[in-house]
Amino acid sequence: MDERTFHRSDQHASVIGLGTWQLGADWGDVDDKEALAVLEAAAESGVTFFDTADVYGDGRSEETIATFLRGRPDLHVMVATKMGRRVEQIPQNYVLDNFREWNDRSRRNLGVDVLDLVQLHCPPTPVYSSDEVFDALDTLVEEERVKAYGVSVETCEEALTAIARPNVASVQIILNPFRMKPLREVLPAAREAGVGIIARVPLASGLLSGKYTKDTVFAANDHRNFNRHGEAFDQGETFSGVDFATGVEAAAEFAALAPEGCTPAQLALRWIVQQPGVTTVIPGARSPEQARANTDAARLPELTEGTLSAVRDLYDRRIKEQVEGRW
Ligand SMILES: NC(=O)c1ccc[n+]([C@@H]2O[C@H](COP(=O)([O-])OP(=O)(O)OC[C@H]3O[C@@H](n4cnc5c(N)ncnc54)[C@H](OP(=O)(O)O)[C@@H]3O)[C@@H](O)[C@H]2O)c1
Repeated sequence: MDERTFHRSDQHASVIGLGTWQLGADWGDVDDKEALAVLEAAAESGVTFFDTADVYGDGRSEETIATFLRGRPDLHVMVATKMGRRVEQIPQNYVLDNFREWNDRSRRNLGVDVLDLVQLHCPPTPVYSSDEVFDALDTLVEEERVKAYGVSVETCEEALTAIARPNVASVQIILNPFRMKPLREVLPAAREAGVGIIARVPLASGLLSGKYTKDTVFAANDHRNFNRHGEAFDQGETFSGVDFATGVEAAAEFAALAPEGCTPAQLALRWIVQQPGVTTVIPGARSPEQARANTDAARLPELTEGTLSAVRDLYDRRIKEQVEGRW
């Protein structure tokens, strides 16, 4: 699979990576055997970038990645983790001593001396304007705890504030056919600055697969059940912030735009890969079959102008008004 470069840190990632939140928790049950099989399927299909976080299953996702990579020393996978959401969400917690402690735990969980990439995990907005925070992140690099650092953001404004910092290697942001504002506001600035873009929630939590109906029920321990209105964390993380009923109807229309030989989920991934400035896309696969289907999207032909403009038209008509004011 093609790889792209995080220019500021000179690291490389497959254009389609793997998100591993679902291997920790919050997406219903995924047992350890299935979790390892998902990692194996992704790696065998050419994925060289895993995204995780210290909070996913309170370390379970990181530990599962470590177990997998220990058994496959032949693989070179860049592992990006995140920190900051295991404590109360106040700016005062974003200090060097805490960063060191959080990094040390992730280094243990992942079984590495130096973390490839650590991202602030959607911190409170004032954190992005704090010189002390970015000085502390520079210290982590100097101390060789991390090779590079980045941020995972909720809004375009947060992304732009972070991109202006000289040593931010990556910005992780929601980008998909139901979340287009970053195309206009963030990707051009990131390209110009050489900051990598990690596109998350690429399938709008599965909506863009077109497989749900308005009657679909998700497990009690699945955020698509318990966070629909932002009860546990930002509402924008579940179904990309799109109201479920609207999303199901729009997804049916989206599915009809998929070219022959391409599933709706693959159309969504192919669409993201094609946006200038994207470094890697990180779909969350819950089975080896999903992992393989997602990586196949990287090998599909470029989408035509006709398909691109139909996807844009669908967004403008059905989705834009719901999401652009907030994220
Ligand atoms: N704040 C943050 O930094 C943050 C927040 C959210 C996510 N993330 C990262 O982004 C990654 C991806 O986002 P996400 O997992 O939230 O959402 P996503 O990738 O948009 O959606 C994942 C869901 O899509 C469905 N799916 C996946 N592959 C499929 C396929 N080939 N065909 C049909 N359906 C498919 C599955 O739904 P079913 O379970 O219904 O099959 C899966 O649970 C996460 O794993 C995590 O690494 C970061």
